[in-house]
Amino acid sequence: MERLMITGGGPLRGEIKVHGAKNSSLPLLAAAVLCRGETVLHNCPELSDVGAACEILSYLGCRVRREGRTVAIDAAGICRHSVPEPLMREMRSSIVFLGAIAARVGQADLSFPGGCELGPRPIDLHLAGLRKLGLLIEEDRGRLLCRVDGRLKGAPIALSFPSVGATENILLAAVTAEGRTVLTNAAREPEIIDLAGFLNKCGAKISGAGEGTIVVEGVDFLHGCEHRVIPDRIVAATYLSCAACTGGDVLVSDVEPVHLAGILPIFEEMGCGITVGERSVRLRAPARLRAAGDVRTMPYPGFPTDAQAPVMAASALAEGTSMFVENIFESRYKHAGELMRMGARIKLEGRVAVVEGVSALHGAEVTCTDLRGGAALVAAGLAAEGETILREIHHIDRGYERIEEALAPLGAKIRRTGE
Ligand code: EPZ
Repeated sequence: MERLMITGGGPLRGEIKVHGAKNSSLPLLAAAVLCRGETVLHNCPELSDVGAACEILSYLGCRVRREGRTVAIDAAGICRHSVPEPLMREMRSSIVFLGAIAARVGQADLSFPGGCELGPRPIDLHLAGLRKLGLLIEEDRGRLLCRVDGRLKGAPIALSFPSVGATENILLAAVTAEGRTVLTNAAREPEIIDLAGFLNKCGAKISGAGEGTIVVEGVDFLHGCEHRVIPDRIVAATYLSCAACTGGDVLVSDVEPVHLAGILPIFEEMGCGITVGERSVRLRAPARLRAAGDVRTMPYPGFPTDAQAPVMAASALAEGTSMFVENIFESRYKHAGELMRMGARIKLEGRVAVVEGVSALHGAEVTCTDLRGGAALVAAGLAAEGETILREIHHIDRGYERIEEALAPLGAKIRRTGE
């Protein structure tokens, strides 16, 4: 298995560009199923999760061509409505294909996505919303056997929690349903706005994306379009954390600073100087970070759960005590144990993590437990004294394009080795 070898030490300095957002690319790839013409996505990151989504599209009968960060999809030849279990399990968010397949083909047969490192990943909100649109769903031994009687019909749908995936699934099913859908308590993430923008370019009629209520007027069909994926705000936050951990001075570019509004105040609280440009953020770290204070993960525009682990790595080195409250996922502190192997002082109590900053971390052999937890270990390794070896780095490759190649130009001593 591949590993990352990191030698901690000097501050990161220089400019680093952010690639397209994984969590926007995936629903956009699912949306291509609805389009009766060719769709071209630009700035689509070269990640294993994107690869898995392209595999699902190919299996369904779509023609998929990937050239670097450009993916062209032609769904005219779609001929299947099922996704095999191994493909579904490769990527948690494969459930977002359900609404699109059912709306396009009139039926869908997908396996229940398994739980994962963040705890159980229920899909009750997805299924309840899709049922409101008329999708008949039978749950049979881990599979979802779905069919449409005639055509999906628009309906009022209220989410009990602003679930990102459920919002995406419902939008994908509603855009070609008959009549109006009004979705309340919808997720407001930038990825939702990006998806709605794409769908409207394809002929959909969606208003209110990014607010709590989204209105969809159903149309008969969607044509293809060209679209550029928004920058990945979590990758940007990770790079900023690497700069903060190492006392660095880094310009993160190709970002939408407004997408980082829930994150930047935490770095400022920690004593970092933040300069916001039109499409860039510069972070200058102090010699020693201050504690992050209280960090509560919330739905957008609050502090994002995906940035919790990378920011925890920075807080482990800060002067003082920080408290994290993980309000989104049930079990998202597996990285804490690995940070403790590096000398971090962290106490966990349910959804609360108390981090008592130490003056230095030391290198160690650590294991990535999930995507963002792995990224946190990279940030900690860059700041730690001595060498850190990261195992199970496939988790990191799900959401970061060759992270070692991205960070090396900033002075990071990091390399990938096969075992
Ligand atoms: C998306 O996951 C992201 N993934 C996650 O990023 C991100 O952490 C999450 O949104 C929150 O922002 C993608 O976009 C591919 P949710 P998703 O539905 O859609 C519960 C990363 O690191 N819930 O908003 O699965 C759920 O258990 C990943 O890039 C239900 O109870 O998130 C969780 O506790 C990790 N029932 C909470 O809601 C449901 O039907 C938030 O889930 C759906 C969700």
